[in-house]
Order: sequence, then structure tokens, then C-alpha cells
Amino acid sequence: AAKLPDLIGMVKPAANADHGDYQANFAMPLAKQLGKKPHDVAAEFIAKLPANDVVEPPTVAGPGFINFRLKPGFLAKAVHEVAADQNLGIVPAAKPRTFVIDLSGPNVAKPLHVGHLRSTIIGDALVRILRSLGHTVIGDNHLGDWGTQFGILLYGYKHHRNDAAFAADPVRELLRLYIHVRQLAQMAEGDDEDGAVGNSVMTACREETSKLHAGDPENTALWKTFMPACLEMLAPIYQRLNIKIDSTLGESFYNPMLPGVVDDMLAKQIAFESAGAIVIPNAKGVVPKTPEEQKKEEPPAIIRKRDGAFTYTTTDLATVKHRMETWKPDAMLYVVGAPQALHFKTLFAQARRWGYENVEYQHVQFGSMLGPDRKIFSTRKGGALELMDLLDDAARISLEKYEANVAERKAHGHKVFEPTAEEKANIAEVIGVGAVKYADLCQSRTTDYVFDLDKMTATVGNTAAYMQYAYARCRSIFREGGEDETRFRTSPPAVILNEPERFADLIRHHVEAVEAAAAESYPHVITGHLWDVAKAPGVFYESCPVLKADSAEVKESRLVLVDLVGRVIQRALSLLGIKTVERM
Ligand code: ARG
Repeated sequence: AAKLPDLIGMVKPAANADHGDYQANFAMPLAKQLGKKPHDVAAEFIAKLPANDVVEPPTVAGPGFINFRLKPGFLAKAVHEVAADQNLGIVPAAKPRTFVIDLSGPNVAKPLHVGHLRSTIIGDALVRILRSLGHTVIGDNHLGDWGTQFGILLYGYKHHRNDAAFAADPVRELLRLYIHVRQLAQMAEGDDEDGAVGNSVMTACREETSKLHAGDPENTALWKTFMPACLEMLAPIYQRLNIKIDSTLGESFYNPMLPGVVDDMLAKQIAFESAGAIVIPNAKGVVPKTPEEQKKEEPPAIIRKRDGAFTYTTTDLATVKHRMETWKPDAMLYVVGAPQALHFKTLFAQARRWGYENVEYQHVQFGSMLGPDRKIFSTRKGGALELMDLLDDAARISLEKYEANVAERKAHGHKVFEPTAEEKANIAEVIGVGAVKYADLCQSRTTDYVFDLDKMTATVGNTAAYMQYAYARCRSIFREGGEDETRFRTSPPAVILNEPERFADLIRHHVEAVEAAAAESYPHVITGHLWDVAKAPGVFYESCPVLKADSAEVKESRLVLVDLVGRVIQRALSLLGIKTVERM
């Protein structure tokens, strides 16, 4: 017998709801095998489909597509099951895996780059999404705490410090010194410190870095004094973003292991000496010379430079080893911007050759954040502090829009919630921070996006605020009706799905969205689904009164749906690290 194609795999959710819920295209390949017309095969299939409780009699469209429409009774039962499930239908993975997620990775003592903001937000969402599916997830912050920026601080501290200022507020003073020294070196915004050759200030800074790396006692002691202040600059940002990272092990932690990495790779004949440097040739045994050669399938790497300095790759190799020994992960995901693609390709190839092959490596890359001028967004003065300003702005604009929204509802004669000053501040913060996160997560991470505070705080469209309002609306229906939601979650009343309520079918797809987002490391699949769910009831509310429904059964059923919409919104937002408020 000829091999049957994967028939089930050929049943897909219908692209157009008018055609039904699912569409199958298996009649085409089957017809080919049987030597018949696809339309006839489809018709034959339909004729033989036994009576059942799941689908209405299917129809054939076009050359032989089969359209299925779920029966309302079946749908209602499925939706009811989701309502009765605390987990909204999500079942933990049958084979839980252990993931290490490399996220955030800011270079401390240096203004926080918006790229690190993206890594933090996207990385945190992936941690939450994978965890919700029952996986073990370790978020690991690979801090850049050993780089050239410390040479700048050391130089600044030695020559330009203000002792009183440092004693009073080390964070602020270090930031001032960093900016001051870069100005002395006449470095423009975005100029690379390592690239500034022939600049006497930067040469002096680099000497300080070399001394630090060589173990100079004075510089080492100063580095230890600076570090707490550097970490202190970051803490409020993580706190404000409501992000807790499980592990923070910076480049400095791996530094003592680097000679061992190089020795081991030399001993295993993976690495070789070439013109004084230690290199790992590419797969064909070619030592890197030209950029073209570097782009080969398994890129070569330098793990110790001629001057004895170790590289970013050496540190990352030590990190792979440490993670494998500590957590024995099944997968390591690196949430880092697209410009580092070659680095990670190199790293993964070398780590495998070194023996760490039984782990999945993934560079979860993302595009750039652009300013309103569509150029790469850059923070100008203080980086980390400026980022706080930016979140302040987001909260302030959100508050303005919230107040406008309340005023408008009031003008239309609606009863509105009058929050206390404290509640108001909380609402502004929840919408503002949510807006920044949502804007980052709601489009495919690989594309660049424009950082536009006005657009991201909008109360209509695919934004955090829209979702948060939609959630609060669900909650307000329960408050208004004096209904306690517990009953609708533990033993929900029967669900009746007539035409206007069919949108509730979308709720079931929450599970698929979360699973797809996890499989591809694409949080925007969740926001895409959320957008469908949140806007659907708008139409429903207009045509279907909930509290004033015609019968008690219909009212109960509609309350189940309203509650479910709210639960799905809240759950999806929480997987993205975004909060909701009960009243706004
Ligand atoms: N600190 C690095 C940078 O700013 C990002 C670290 C990414 N993670 C890693 N394991 N290399 O470029």
C-alpha cells in the first residue's frame, strides 16, 4: 500500500472564519495517489463522515478544500472545560527541560544601552513563558563587569574625582566621572572605547584596564569599591521593571578560569598558536585571515590575543562550561541583539568541538530600537538614570491619557471610578511600564522598532493600555453585578454558545499561542492572540447585554465568558511580565 500522507497535519485553523473553523487540504494529495479528482475525493470523504457531536456536516470549497465548523455544543463544552481549569487549558510539558536563559547582560559602570533593555524585557518574558509550561528555567545575567569602561572609571577616579561627592553618592559620582572622561577624550556618543586609537586620554584609560586585568592591587581594590555602586545603578531599573534575575555572574567571575580554558583547548588540540595568538581554526583547519574566512560555516576564533589578553569568546566558553557543570541544561538561549550573530555562531561551534554538544544552543536575536528619527535609539547623558526618566515619562503620559479617558467617560454620563492619589499613581505606573514592555514584545523580535511613547501608551490598538482597560472592564462587570468570580472558576455554570458568543472559541487558542511562543522564542505570538481575544468582546458587549441578559442561564453563561476573557488577558500579560489593575 502506498504511504498515506499526514492527514491530520493537513487540517489547519481556517484563515477566514466565514469558511468555518478548520480547513483540510488532504483531498489534493490523496486524489493524486488514487488517480481521482480532488473534488470527488473530498465529496466522498464528506459522505462517509459518520454522524458526530464535534463538527457540522463539512462543505467542499474550490478544487477540494474541506471546511469544518465546530458544533456550538462541542465548542461550549470545550470553553467550559477551559473555564473550570485554573491553568486555562495549559498542561505542563510531558518532558520538562532545563533552560538557561542569558538575558540583560548590561555593561556595568557604563550607561545602560537600550539594547540591554530589550534583552531584559524579552529574556524575562521567555523565562516566564517557559516556566508556565513546567520547564525549569534559570535566568542568568552575564554582566559586562570587566571591560574597558573600568579603565575610564579608574582613570577618572585617580585624576578627577570629587571625594565629597563620591562619599555622598558614589553612583552619581562614578557616572559623572565616566561622562567627564569621555568628554576629555572627545569621544562622541556611541564611539567605541576600544576603537579610540591615538587618543592620549583613552590610551591612559586602556593602561588602567590592562593593569586591572594583570591583577594590579590598587586597581583591583578600586574595582571592588566601584562594583557595588555599579550594581546599585542597575537595581532600581530591574525593580521598576518588576524583573528578578535568578543568577548574576559577570565576566569578572569567569576571569580566573580563562587560562584553564586556553590550556585545555591547546591540550585537546582544538586550539593552536598562530603568530603569538591562540586561535581555534575553523572546521577545515584554516587559521582566520580575512573577513571572508571568518564567515565560513564554522567560524574560527581567537581565544588569546598576542598581548596575552583573553577575548569575549574565551569568557563565553568558560561560561558554557560553568553552566553545563552547574545546571546541566538541555538548552541555552542567548537573548542578545542581532549584531552579535557571528559571535554566537562562533561560540556554539567551538563549544561543541570542545565537547559540550549535548545541549541545544540558540541565539535569540532581536533588532534595534529606533528613535523617532528612525536612527538607532541612544540614551544621551546618563543611560541608566535616563532610562528611569524614560519610564517616568511613560507613566506621566499614561496618566494624562487615563485622566482624559475618565473625563470622556464621565462626559458620556458613565459612572467612573475615582481613585485615590495613591491608586492613581499605581495605575500610571502599571500602564506606563506595561506600555514600554508591550511595545517591545508585540512585534516579531527580529524587526527594528521605533520607540514612540505616544503610540505605545495609546488606549486603543494593540497596546498594553488597551489590554489593561479590557481586563478592568471584565472586572467591573462582576463588581457591578455583585458577582463573585470564584464560582465561575471552580464550578462554572453551563456555557451556551450562540452566534454572538462564538468569539469565545478564541479563548481556547490561548494554549496554542503560549506553546508556539515558547517553541519559537517569539513572545509576539502571545500578544497577537491577546489582541484577537481582547477586541472580540467589544462587538459582543454591544449586541449582548451581560447583566441584563434575557434569561438567568444566558446571563450566567455570559458571565463565564466575560470572566474567561479577563483571565486570559491577565494570564497572557503576566507571561509577558505586565501587571493589571482591578479598577481603572
Ligand atoms: N555585555 C554584552 C554586551 O553588551 C552582552 C552579554 C551577552 N551575553 C553573553 N553571554 N555574551 O555586548
